[in-house]
Amino acid sequence: MSASERIDHLRQELNRHNHSYYVENAPTISDYDYDMLMKELEKLEKDNPELDDPLSPTHRVGSDLTKGFKQVVHVHPMLSLSNTYTIDEVDEWVCKCNELLGNSEGLRSVPIVGEMKFDGTSISLIYEYGRLVRAVTRGDGEKGDDVTENVKTIKSIPLMLHGGDYPEKFEIRGEIVLPWKAFDRLNEERAFNEEPLFANPRNAAAGTLKMLNSAEVSRRGLDAYFYYLISDELPTDNHYDNMLKAKEWGFKVSDSMTLLHSIEEVDHYINYWDEERKNLPVATDGLVFKVNNLRQQLNLGFRSKSPRWAIAYKFAAERALTRLNFVSFEIGRMGIVTPVANLEPVLLSGTIVKRASLHNEDIVKALDIHEHDMLYVEKGGEIIPKITGVDVAAREKDAKPVEFIEYCPDCGTKLIRLPGEAAWQCPNKYGCRPQIIGRLEHFVGRNMMDIDGVGEENCALLYEADLVRNIADFYNLKADDLEKLERIGPRTAQRIIEGVEASKQVPFERVVYALSIPFVGETVARKLARGVHDIDRLMSRSHDELVAIEDIGPRIADAIVEYFSYPGNREIVERLRAAGLQMAMPEIDTSDHTDLLKDKVIVISGVFERHSREEYKEMIEKNGGKNSGSISKKTSFVLAGDNMGPSKLEKAKSLGVPIIDEEEFLKMIGK
Ligand code: IVH
Repeated sequence: MSASERIDHLRQELNRHNHSYYVENAPTISDYDYDMLMKELEKLEKDNPELDDPLSPTHRVGSDLTKGFKQVVHVHPMLSLSNTYTIDEVDEWVCKCNELLGNSEGLRSVPIVGEMKFDGTSISLIYEYGRLVRAVTRGDGEKGDDVTENVKTIKSIPLMLHGGDYPEKFEIRGEIVLPWKAFDRLNEERAFNEEPLFANPRNAAAGTLKMLNSAEVSRRGLDAYFYYLISDELPTDNHYDNMLKAKEWGFKVSDSMTLLHSIEEVDHYINYWDEERKNLPVATDGLVFKVNNLRQQLNLGFRSKSPRWAIAYKFAAERALTRLNFVSFEIGRMGIVTPVANLEPVLLSGTIVKRASLHNEDIVKALDIHEHDMLYVEKGGEIIPKITGVDVAAREKDAKPVEFIEYCPDCGTKLIRLPGEAAWQCPNKYGCRPQIIGRLEHFVGRNMMDIDGVGEENCALLYEADLVRNIADFYNLKADDLEKLERIGPRTAQRIIEGVEASKQVPFERVVYALSIPFVGETVARKLARGVHDIDRLMSRSHDELVAIEDIGPRIADAIVEYFSYPGNREIVERLRAAGLQMAMPEIDTSDHTDLLKDKVIVISGVFERHSREEYKEMIEKNGGKNSGSISKKTSFVLAGDNMGPSKLEKAKSLGVPIIDEEEFLKMIGK
C-alpha cells in the first residue's frame, strides 16, 4: 500500500469512528486504538506534506492562529420563527395551514414534522462536492461571521460527507449547542478560576463559537444538531426525508423528529416532550413544527421575519413552591440595597435554588411578601431564578409583612431613596465596606482592568488584610505581602503581580469604566473617553461641557462632577497615573480626515459589497459626517446596500430623504 493509499484509508477509518462516537453515540473502537490510528495518520501527513488536506481528521484539533472573523453575506437570509406558548395556538396554526392549503380532509391534517427547538446558537454550513467549505453564524440574519475554523473542531460535524447522493452544492442549518455535561464542567472550571459564569448553555455555546482560539473551542465540547436543508437539487420533495438523507450523509439529526398526521398527534407530541425533554443531554427551549411537504411550504411562503410554514412552541418556565426563610439586604458597589429571598432549598430545572433577588422595595410590596411565606420560584431560559408569586392560602396566621430596612445593615448609615428611583441607597460611599469591596471587584473585572488572579473572594481578603483599601493600592502590592495571606499561595501571588503589571496597558476608556463613577457603564465610558481624550479634561470639565458630549445626559454629568469633587478620588487618580496606567486616548492619525460630509446625518441600511457596514461608519466619521440609527426629518441621506428593510425604505420615501448606493457614496468622499 502506498503512503497515499494508507492516508486515505486512515482518514476514512477515523471519520467513520468519529461518526459512530459523536453522532451515533455508539463507539466502534477503543480510545487507545483510535489514538494509534490518529498518530499514524499524523506521522504520514508530516512525512508527506504534499498529501495534506485541510479537512483531514488530524485538523480537528484546532489552532491558536484564528484571528478575527470575516463577515459573509448569507445566500438565503437566516430568519427566525414566530412563537406560540399554548397547545391551542399551535392547533390554530395547524388549522390555518390546512385552510390556506385548501385541505378539508376532516380530522387528518397536512403532514407536520415535530422537532426539538434546540437552545444554542444557529449555524449555516455550506458544502460543495461533499466537503465543508464554510460555516457562518446567524449574525444579523443577513450576514454573519465566518467561523469555519472553530466549527471544524466540532467532532459531530462531518467535514467530508458519507455516501454519494448529496447535492453538489447545498446549505444546511442547525444549532450549535453545549451539552449540559460540558456546560456544567465549563462553569465549574470558571468558578474555580473566579471567572464570570455563563448564565445558560446558549450563551456558553455562542460565546465559545466566537472565540479566537480554536484549540480552546475544541476543548469545550460543542455539539450540533441539524434541521434545515437548502439546495437547488434537494434529494426528496419533503423535509422529513431530506433530514433522513442528511443523517445518512453524516449529520446529527435528532431522533425526536417525528411525522405527525393530525392535530391529536401534534398535541400528544407536545405533552410528551414537555416532560421528556428534561432527559435530553442538551438544553431545549421548545418545539418546532414544520409543514412537511416542500411544495406546500412554498405555497405558504414567508412573512417578513419568519416562514408561515413553521412555528415554534415555547415550553413554560418551570415553577416550584418553597418556603421563605428570611429576606437579606445586600449592598452593591454603588450603595444600592437589593433585597434577596433566602429560600428553603428547592430543585428547579436541574439545579438547587436557595436564593432569589427581589430587586427593590416596590417588588417586595407588590408581591406582598410576609415572613415565612410559601413563594413561587420560576426559571425561564436563564439560570437566575425569579420569585413570581405567593401562595397566600398557605400563609401562617399572624405572619408580618416583610419590612424594608431603614439603615445600612453593614455600616448603619440611614438609607436614602433618590426621587424617581426604585432603589434605596446607602450614602456612605467611602466608608461602607461592601461598597468599597464592590468597587475593588469591579476594578479588577474582565471588562475593566482584567487583573488575573484577583476575583471576588480575593478582593475581600486583600481588603480585610489591609493590603488594598482602594483601587490604587493594587499597584503597591508586593508578592511577599500576598504570600503571607493564608489563602494565597506563591503561584497566585505571582499571577496577581503579573496581572497588575499587565493592567497598565489597558486602554484609557476601560480605565474610565473601572473607576466606578456612578452611571458610567461600559458604553458611556467609551463615549466619555473619546469625548474628553484624557483624564485631566475629564476631571476638569464642568457640567455643561460634559453634557455637550454625545449621549452624556445631565444625570451622568452630575455624577462625574461630584465624583471628582471628592479629594480622595482625585488622589487615587494621581496615584494610578504615577503607577503608569493609560490616562489618555492614543494619538490618532488625522491626515486622511476631511469635512466633505460636514453637517450630514447619515443612516446606513442593508448589505454592502465593497466595504463592511463598520467601514462605512468609519468613513462617515472620518469625513465629518454623523451616523444615525433611524430615519427622521434630520437625515441627510440613507446609504443603502442590498435588502434595505422595507419599513426603512418606506419611511425614507415618505420623508423625501434621498437614498444613495455605495458607488455614489464613495464618489462623494472622493474614493
Ligand atoms: S427552523 C426558516 N428548527 O430557533 C426556519 N430552528 O427562533 C429556520 N432553532 O434561528 C429555523 N431548533 O436558531 C428551526 N428544529 C429547529 C430549531 C430551530 C432551534 C433555532 C434557530 C432559529 C431559532 C428561531
